[in-house]
Amino acid sequence: MQGLFDPVTLGAFELRNRIVMSPMTRSRAGDGDAPTDLHVEYYRQRASAGLIVTEGIQPSPAGKGYCRTPGFYSAHQTEGWRRVAEAVHAEGGLIVAQLMHCGRVASRINKDDDSDVVAPSAIRAEAKIFTDVSGLVPMEMPRALGTGEIPLVVEEYRQAALNARAAGMDGVELHSSSGYLPMQFLSSNSNRRTDRYGGSAENRIRFVMETLQAMGEAIGFGRVGLRLCPGLDYNDMHDENPVETYGLLMREASQLGLAYLHLVRRSVQLVDNYALTKANWHGNLILNNELSPETAAAAISDGSAEAVSFGRPFIGNPDLVHRIRDGIALSDYDRARVYTPGSQGYTDYPTASSA
Ligand SMILES: Cc1cc2nc3c(=O)[nH]c(=O)nc-3n(C[C@H](O)[C@H](O)[C@H](O)COP(=O)(O)O)c2cc1C
Repeated sequence: MQGLFDPVTLGAFELRNRIVMSPMTRSRAGDGDAPTDLHVEYYRQRASAGLIVTEGIQPSPAGKGYCRTPGFYSAHQTEGWRRVAEAVHAEGGLIVAQLMHCGRVASRINKDDDSDVVAPSAIRAEAKIFTDVSGLVPMEMPRALGTGEIPLVVEEYRQAALNARAAGMDGVELHSSSGYLPMQFLSSNSNRRTDRYGGSAENRIRFVMETLQAMGEAIGFGRVGLRLCPGLDYNDMHDENPVETYGLLMREASQLGLAYLHLVRRSVQLVDNYALTKANWHGNLILNNELSPETAAAAISDGSAEAVSFGRPFIGNPDLVHRIRDGIALSDYDRARVYTPGSQGYTDYPTASSA
């Protein structure tokens, strides 16, 4: 396990160990989609991770798709995140804000305002989404963004990145997986545009590249990470040629000097996305998905990645890092309370020493 506990530098981030907390939406935002005292406690409890990637945070009201997700566009939200960052730093940890614009993966029922549901093209995602009042409902029919509107969406990400830094966050991660807006631009089934943002792979990667560029220029490229899962079909994603699309994106993004690529490894039918990454990405890699302490340690010791991330194990094990180091068995988590409001199943998991 030793390699997991060696420090590592990823861009501007100096991690004290290589165990990253993977981003997880937990649907606990309070009034005005702002983080609350519960968020402060939840992230503080997990601050022994080498780096925390927060839950997905919408950069604008239009970016909200799910219920009770937090934002990073108002002063109230920024103030809430400032308290989260402070608590994590007080424990010696690092934290980056994951910026997640859901695009067409949305229901109006989950929004507090009348902001549009937008996407590269007016094509509805063939999937359902949870709402508090009506349970599972079909995804909204999105409105296609006009060419002139796209720079405004990029600007929302840039401003959210600046807000994250103003809040004391160490940086941001661009969520470009799981079928959300950036992936909707990348994928040929959801992007049927005929302007410079659609058609060829070069055009379909433009939105992600412009967003990375804008955020990097604003806060420093070494403070920006990128999350990808090439080949994923979740939320009705399909790309005719993910090897071409993501190969190009990774080569172009490698030129920017980002902090890291956060890869959700999957051996999906269309593409071995780890082999694709090794062939095209030149930079730091955080490897994710279904890792155990043993497979994670092996990934570090054989040089597969600079760091590894755990998602679900961090829910029930706030002291995951210490449990791995001391060989203590991991606890399970309460599946019924993953997305429910309140402290239950959120901040009430004991550490091994307090259990
Ligand atoms: C409850 C839950 C919420 C998640 N929310 C997000 C999210 O907001 N952003 C994201 O990029 N991935 C999200 N994921 C994916 C995780 O970051 C991670 O990739 C996945 O759980 C696989 O890692 P694991 O096997 O270690 O759990 C979520 C996963 C879970 C279980």
